[in-house]
Amino acid sequence: MKIYLVGGAVRDKLLGRPVKEKDFVVVGATPADMLKKGFRQVGKDFPVFLHPETNEEYALARMERKVGRGYTGFEFDASPSVTLEEDLLRRDLTINAMAESAEGALIDPFHGQADLKKKLLRHVSPAFIEDPVRILRLARFAARFSALGFTVAPETMQLMQEMVTSGEVDALVAERVWKELERALQEEHPEKFFEVLEACGALSVLFPQLKNTNIVELKKAAEQFQDDELRFSVLLHHLTAAQIKEITERYRVPASYRDLALLVSEHLDKYTHAKDFSAEQLLNVLLVTDAFRRGARFEKFLNACLSITGQPKAFLDAVLAAASAVTTKDLSLENLPGNEIGKLLNSKRIDSINNFLSNINLSNK
Ligand code: CTP
Repeated sequence: MKIYLVGGAVRDKLLGRPVKEKDFVVVGATPADMLKKGFRQVGKDFPVFLHPETNEEYALARMERKVGRGYTGFEFDASPSVTLEEDLLRRDLTINAMAESAEGALIDPFHGQADLKKKLLRHVSPAFIEDPVRILRLARFAARFSALGFTVAPETMQLMQEMVTSGEVDALVAERVWKELERALQEEHPEKFFEVLEACGALSVLFPQLKNTNIVELKKAAEQFQDDELRFSVLLHHLTAAQIKEITERYRVPASYRDLALLVSEHLDKYTHAKDFSAEQLLNVLLVTDAFRRGARFEKFLNACLSITGQPKAFLDAVLAAASAVTTKDLSLENLPGNEIGKLLNSKRIDSINNFLSNINLSNK
């Protein structure tokens, strides 16, 4: 049996990037050989094993063939006669289809190293079309590596366009789309993800709502903020609540992403006009955004609005600070029924905001 390091780890090593996860391919072994060596099999039908100590993934070299539509239609051959080269051939991109032997030799039958130098995202073989997730993966790699100058090889772009036309993209399942989108949002240039999807035609199939989206806003948000919830809300801010819900329901996007996106789309104009508001209106902004109870989310809201509008957030931050300075401890509540407490608290908050407003008016004179 021979063991090779493969995939992303080899790519990242050659790029001089930190290696997060090591995957290995095992050539010339049977599942029984692996179990005898103490590996644990993961998945019932799939020949993938975990190393007894490192827990890293060791897969038997395999060939894959698509026999039907969607995810059920795969047949594979993982017999000991499958070669390393055959295993590399089934992979998505040339830069992901390299292997390294235990002695440190690079095995690179599809010229991944040359494509790393040319900074090209290029498919290995026509088998690329058998897995539509690869369109999303490629778009995500564009988001990750575009700062290094990577682009999509023209022939690969053409292949993806054909996949979209032939309806392959329709077979994508919601969870996979969200998983890839979520990861793309964390990359250095998330806007490239959407640029690639647009260029191959997948955007209008997967996210028709984003047709006229200005991705420069997402680019700017990504330059300023790491947070992927914030980036997501910037991406969707120009959509209606109904459109945002269409997307988040279709892809089962977690509620925290949905809620921040809805908040930004609904209340962005209040952020823009806050300086013309009365103390009552300002308190209302804090209440409808749930700023007193959800301080961290309110900060994300402010940062998203700041990124979209370019207007500083200091004013609303200070309004919140002024209103938050009032607490129920400052009120004499002994004889008040519950609903009156809230009213009293809010009227004191308005006083405090008014105080703050007159102070800045004074300092402006
Ligand atoms: N792979 C593939 N097609 C897929 C998924 C994975 O060909 N749809 C292959 C690629 O060779 C890839 C390897 O399996 O390099 C490991 O996949 P994964 O760990 O998901 O991706 P990485 O390339 O390691 O990328 P990342 O850094 O994003 O984890």
